[in-house]
Amino acid sequence: MRELIHRPRRLRRTPELRRLVQETQLSVDDLIYPLFVCPGEGVRQEVASMPGVYTLSIDQLVEEAQEVKRLGIPAVILFGIPERKDEMGSEAYAEDGIIQRAIRALKREVPGLLVIADTCLCEYTSHGHCGLVHDGEVLNDPTLELLARTAVSQARAGADIIAPSNMMDGFVAAIRSALDAAGFTHIPIMSYAVKYASAFYGPFREAAQSAPQFGDRRGYQMDPPNAREALREVELDIEQGADILMVKPALPYLDIIRLVREHFPVPVAAYQVSGEYAMIKAAARLGWIEEERVVLETLIGIKRAGADMILTYFAKDVARRLQSDR
Ligand code: PBG
Repeated sequence: MRELIHRPRRLRRTPELRRLVQETQLSVDDLIYPLFVCPGEGVRQEVASMPGVYTLSIDQLVEEAQEVKRLGIPAVILFGIPERKDEMGSEAYAEDGIIQRAIRALKREVPGLLVIADTCLCEYTSHGHCGLVHDGEVLNDPTLELLARTAVSQARAGADIIAPSNMMDGFVAAIRSALDAAGFTHIPIMSYAVKYASAFYGPFREAAQSAPQFGDRRGYQMDPPNAREALREVELDIEQGADILMVKPALPYLDIIRLVREHFPVPVAAYQVSGEYAMIKAAARLGWIEEERVVLETLIGIKRAGADMILTYFAKDVARRLQSDR
C-alpha cells in the first residue's frame, strides 16, 4: 500500500488533541439572555411555543436576572408587555412604563448585570406595527421622534445599551443625537441593522403579543433573498454612530454574519430567534434530535460564521453546560 503523507485524522484521535486544535470557542462571555417582562406580581407564565421561557412580572424578573448573573452571563435584553396598548405606543416611552420600571429594578437589585433595552414600538402599539400608522402606511420620520423618546427614557431608567429593532430609516442617527442631547453620550447603540422579515419570529410575537394586526413587516424589515442590501444597512448604521451591529435571525443567515464580519471592523451580534429555539425544542421533545448537542452545534456555527456575541434563549442552559465542563 502506498504510504500516506497527510493524515488529518492524526489530530482527531483523542479529546486532548481535538481540544488543542479547536479553532472556535464558545464562552459564557458571548451570551445575551432575552427576557419578557409583564405587569402584575408573582407572574411567571410559560410561553406555549417556547418551553422554558416565561413572561415575568418585575419581582420574578429580578429573581431570574439574579440567576442569570450567578451563571456568569454578562447581559440580558428586555422586552416589555405593557398594561395598555394604543395607536402611538405611549407606554414605550412612559417614564413609569413597564420597561422603565423593570430596568430600574434590575439596576437596583442586580448590580453588575448589563441591561440592554430593546427599542421598538410594536409591543406597545394597538396595531402591532413598529411605527406610527396612517392610512395603512407605517410612517418613517414621525416614528423617529418616538423612538428617540423611548431610548432616552430607557437610558434615564439606567439601561446600559440601547438596542433599536424597528428598522425605520435613520433610527440610529435619531437615537444617537437624542441620547447625546440628554447627556448619554456614553451609552452604546446595538443596532438591529440587519433584521429580516422572517417567519422565525412567530413564537416571540406570541410571547410579546406583538403580531401586526393588519399586513406584515415587509415594508420595513429586510427581504430574505438580499445580501448586498445587508452591507448597505450596516454601512448606514455605522455612519450614524452604531457601536454594535446585529444580524437576525442567525442560523438561516450565517452567510450574512460572515459578510458583515469581513467587511466591517465592528463587534457583530447574532440573534438566535424564537423560532430557532422553538424548532429545536419541538424536535427534542419528540426525541428526534439531542437537544444539548444541537444547541451547542448551532451556537458554535454562529460564532464560526463571525459573531462576537449571541442573543439566545438557550443562554442559561449553555452557561450551565460550560460551567460543568470546567
Ligand atoms: C421587535 C422585535 C422582534 C423580535 C425582537 N425584537 C419581533 C418582530 O420584529 O416582530 C423577535 C425576536 C425573536 O423572534 O426571538 N421588533
